[in-house]
Amino acid sequence: MQISIFGLGYVGCVSLGCLAKNGHEVIGVDISSFKVDLINQGKPTIIEKDINNIILEGFENGRISATECPEEAVHNTEISIICVGTPPSTNGHLDLSYIFKTAEQIGKALKTKDSFHTVVIRSTVVPGTNYRYGKIVEEFSGKKRGESFSVVSNPEFLREGTAVHDYYHPAVTVIGGDNTYAMEQVTAIYSSLQAPIEITDVKVAEIIKYVNNSFHALKIAFTNEIATICKALTIDPFKVMELFCKDTRLNISPAYMKPGFVYGGSCLPKDLKGLVTMGHDNYLDTPVLAMINSSNEQHKKKAFELISSTGKKKVCLVGLSFKEGTDDLRFSPYVELAETLIGKGYHVTIYDEYVRLSKLIGANKAYINERLPHLSEHLTYNLETAISENDVVIISHKNFDAQTYRHLLKEKTAIIDLARIHELETLSNYEGICW
Ligand SMILES: NC(=O)c1ccc[n+]([C@@H]2O[C@H](COP(=O)([O-])OP(=O)(O)OC[C@H]3O[C@@H](n4cnc5c(N)ncnc54)[C@H](O)[C@@H]3O)[C@@H](O)[C@H]2O)c1
Repeated sequence: MQISIFGLGYVGCVSLGCLAKNGHEVIGVDISSFKVDLINQGKPTIIEKDINNIILEGFENGRISATECPEEAVHNTEISIICVGTPPSTNGHLDLSYIFKTAEQIGKALKTKDSFHTVVIRSTVVPGTNYRYGKIVEEFSGKKRGESFSVVSNPEFLREGTAVHDYYHPAVTVIGGDNTYAMEQVTAIYSSLQAPIEITDVKVAEIIKYVNNSFHALKIAFTNEIATICKALTIDPFKVMELFCKDTRLNISPAYMKPGFVYGGSCLPKDLKGLVTMGHDNYLDTPVLAMINSSNEQHKKKAFELISSTGKKKVCLVGLSFKEGTDDLRFSPYVELAETLIGKGYHVTIYDEYVRLSKLIGANKAYINERLPHLSEHLTYNLETAISENDVVIISHKNFDAQTYRHLLKEKTAIIDLARIHELETLSNYEGICW
């Protein structure tokens, strides 16, 4: 394939070399004549393991060249991969001016190109950039997206220092677009890599890099806070984290990583608080750990705000225990939500097939007696009337499928979904807690 690469920095230079090594003819484009000259002498623009040989080899077998002329690059290639910088502006936004400049340049070049052209945004950009990029290309080319060109989002995940290795061994290749032909072209570029290719929505492809890097930052800060507490308690943090990583069922795994409602129950809040207190007792500040609870509280507030925004006062909560399939009410966030609603004058009906007042014992019974002493007045064992006789249905658990709800819901009943019953999302009066 003939491919042009806009931007010959870290990402662009590695892409140039690796694509040429995979047999493609690659033209690099940069506004820096110094970088263009380096490539045209068979030299890389960056210092990275293995990159010298890869660029030299590609240059010597005629697969690599560079130019300062965007038009020349666009006219001689089918695909342009955008790897220009997206530095932060002083107020924290991304400076997308380099990105949009390439859109103008490619748009102008496409005015005089007859064949279809695919633009691939490899740089890290905010959601919505792909769409804006297409508009600029349309404006400068006078051509239509989808007919004469397409814009595909394909974020880069390499890390400096291991960039060439990372290029050839990505965990996953993400491709987001709205044109089948263009996405097939981009898929073909990566077909030689031993990594799954995920085709997804444009905006999902645009945001994923932010999500990844924010999580990586969170992992580092979390680990360092754990280590700081361990040090104060003369515990070896390396042994702790090594052990932590051995649990690939709950720790290093997709567990708990589905959007939903808050954590609660008798363990997570207690143990998190206990750990933060261990830090406090040793005069340590652990802001990441300390703020987890604030984030959880914020999410609780969001649920109440969604309910109050319906303007309706007759609500029904489907699911009360901290987790479905149990009658454990201790520190259940749904008990707290019910408490808030009752306190604010809502008429609250509660249905939970696992909660039988007569069977509650010990700490569970003591907890609910303290938090919701009049639970019996709110509890019903009839799902049908609970749903059909109220104006808002709050779904806490996933016990019932969409069919059951659709069958019982009145036309104007508002649904506040904390658990995600996917098939209800199309209803006009449906609101997911964070989707
Ligand atoms: N460096 C990394 O480790 C890494 C990893 C993944 C993703 N990214 C993302 O990839 C993008 C590029 O990062 P980088 O580190 O390679 O940037 P960089 O600053 O090293 O290189 C950017 C290059 O783009 C050139 N450029 C600017 N405007 C141009 C134009 N109109 N035409 C052609 N060239 C132009 C610049 O001269 C420069 O050589 C950024 O969005 C970055 O966030 C970087």
